[in-house]
Parts: sequence; C-alpha cells; structure tokens
Amino acid sequence: MSDKPADIDTLHPGLSDWLQHTLSCDDVAREKLLALLQQRWQQHNHGDMPRWQQAIQTLSRCRGKAQRWRVDDDLLVLGKAASSAGQQMLLEQALRELMPWRKGPLRLHGVDIDTEWRSDWKWQRLQAHLPKLSGHKVLDVGAGNGYFGYRLLAAGAAGVLAVDPTWLFVMQHQAMQTAAGAADNWVLPLRLEDLPDSVGGFDMVMSLGVLYHRRDPLAHLHRLKQHLRPGGLLVLETFVLPPGDDLEISPRRYARMGNVHRIPQPPLLRQWLQDTGFSNVRMVDINRTSVQEQRRTDWMQFESLAEALDQYNHALTVEGLPAPRRAIMLARQNS
Ligand SMILES: C[S@@+](CC[C@H](N)C(=O)[O-])C[C@H]1O[C@@H](n2cnc3c(N)ncnc32)[C@H](O)[C@@H]1O
Repeated sequence: MSDKPADIDTLHPGLSDWLQHTLSCDDVAREKLLALLQQRWQQHNHGDMPRWQQAIQTLSRCRGKAQRWRVDDDLLVLGKAASSAGQQMLLEQALRELMPWRKGPLRLHGVDIDTEWRSDWKWQRLQAHLPKLSGHKVLDVGAGNGYFGYRLLAAGAAGVLAVDPTWLFVMQHQAMQTAAGAADNWVLPLRLEDLPDSVGGFDMVMSLGVLYHRRDPLAHLHRLKQHLRPGGLLVLETFVLPPGDDLEISPRRYARMGNVHRIPQPPLLRQWLQDTGFSNVRMVDINRTSVQEQRRTDWMQFESLAEALDQYNHALTVEGLPAPRRAIMLARQNS
C-alpha cells in the first residue's frame, strides 16, 4: 500500500456496487461521494498513517486464508489465528500498532482485544428495543471502528454505511476487514455533514455518542432525519442530565473532555426531536456509565472514565458535574 492510497475499489471493495444496487443511490450522489472519499484519502496528512498502513499490510500478509466473522456468545470474532506461533506474534504486534482500541471487545485474527468500552453491553441495551432488522439498510454516524455495524449485520441488516472522521478508527476498521473479508459494513473517513443529501433513504439511522459533541444539536438531528426514508427509525444515544434544577448545561469541560457542548434533561431532548419533526419519540433506556463499562485496558492505556470521576463520589465528574448518563431515544421520520 502506498503512503497515500487513492484507489477506492481497493480501499472500500464493493462500495460502489453496493451504493448503486443495494442502497439505490442515484448516480450523481454516488459519484459525489466516491470523489469526496478519493479526495479524503489523497489529502490526509496524518503522521501515523504510514505506520498504520504498514500494520494493515502485515495483517494481510500473515492472516490465514479463511476470512470470515461471527458473533460468538456476544464476542465479535473476526478471522482466525495464524498457523504458526511466529506469524501469530507478528499479527499481535501489528494490531498493537493500531492502539488505542476503544470499541469492542473483539477477537481479531485470534488475538483477544480488550477494548476500553464494553460496547457489547451498549448493544444489549439497544438491541432489546430494535425492530426486526431483516433487510434493513442502516447509516451509522460516528461509528468508531464499525463495531456496531457487525452487530447490526449479525442481527439481519442488509448493509451498514458508516461515517467517522477519525482516521485511527477508520484504519482499525480496515484491519477488521482484513479478517472479516467482504462484509457489507463500510466505515468511511467522512463526517455526517459530508454525505450528499440523496445518498440513500436509510431504513434506520444511528447516532450513538455524537450529539453532545455537536455545537448545534438540532442541526445534527435535521441531518440525521434527512437520511431516513419516510417511516424510518432514528436511534439516538446521548448524554442526559439527572432530574434537577438545570434543564440543560453547556459545560466548558466535562469528564475531562473539552468538546462536550450541550447536555439536556430527557424532556428537553424529546423536545429537540419533536422540534426537528420526528414523531413517536420514545426514551427506551437510561444508563449511568459504570467504570466497568468504560475503563483503561491493556489495549487502551490512557486515562478512562475512572480518572474523569470524582474519586470520592462517582456520582460526579472531576468538574463537579453529574457523572455521565446516557439515554437511548427512538423516533420515527414521518414526513
Ligand atoms: C464517543 S464516540 C462514539 C462511537 C460509537 N458510536 C459508540 O457509541 O461507541 C464519537 C464518535 O463520533 C465521531 N464524530 C465526531 N464528529 C462527527 C461528525 N461530524 N460526523 C460523524 N462522526 C463524528 C468521532 O470521531 C467519534 O468516533
């Protein structure tokens, strides 16, 4: 792989056909999307990219022939171990070049990756409220490494188009695809705002853990709605406040993050969704994130939730604000 690869068919094999035949994306939107992707891959200047590409090259060289994936007792398993101990060591070394691993857990090329997040717990909370996904085309916004895309496919979805502007996560997904082979789960290095309007009328659009990063949450909700077909389902997960005096807060820093803009109480979040034109708005889950669900591991060695909480009172962040709690909202696009 060259330093700045530009061949979209190599980077995202099958994407163009899938956009055309499965998503029924019109030609103009498809060409626009592919041209933008090409530009992103050509113009990135991330200093770690050569190292990540080298790692992915090693994975492609050392992996066994069989490329497949499955969910095994709630663990996402991609590919198989190598046939020799030496090759297996090279695989693990290559996967460590792609640290920190945040979303999982995964068994990738036979290596157990204990990620920062127990995303399987989030999936369990979410899945309980999803309709039958058979044949669904899903857009996953801010997908990270695409973990949930595989869970959606395993639950029957026809395909998942995912966007995330963070290059490390896109490259982790590429590493996952060296093991999975052809899975209809694409993580593209784009922001939601980059997607052409008419890329497709998705049956379901997910935005998990993104809204609070947006300065203008209503603009984000409008964009999500734009990509749903009439009757399609929005799945939104975001921080909410516990009951109290403030209807919302706009913290300068929150749980050691500098990019959390607005945290509403659930009734205000519901109002935002209704103001955007969604109907049948329901909050189906609310959960205070535990230090067992989000934590430092051997594969994510930076600070995690425990260091962002008041050490004497886990109900508060180090800034003295209510500790992270997340609501899952479902809503329908009915226009
Ligand atoms: C907290 S993570 C959530 C990841 C995953 N959805 C989950 O729930 O585990 C937020 C993700 O949103 C991505 N993101 C931030 N701004 C975005 C935008 N404008 N469009 C799409 N993704 C965005 C970030 O790169 C990051 O991976």
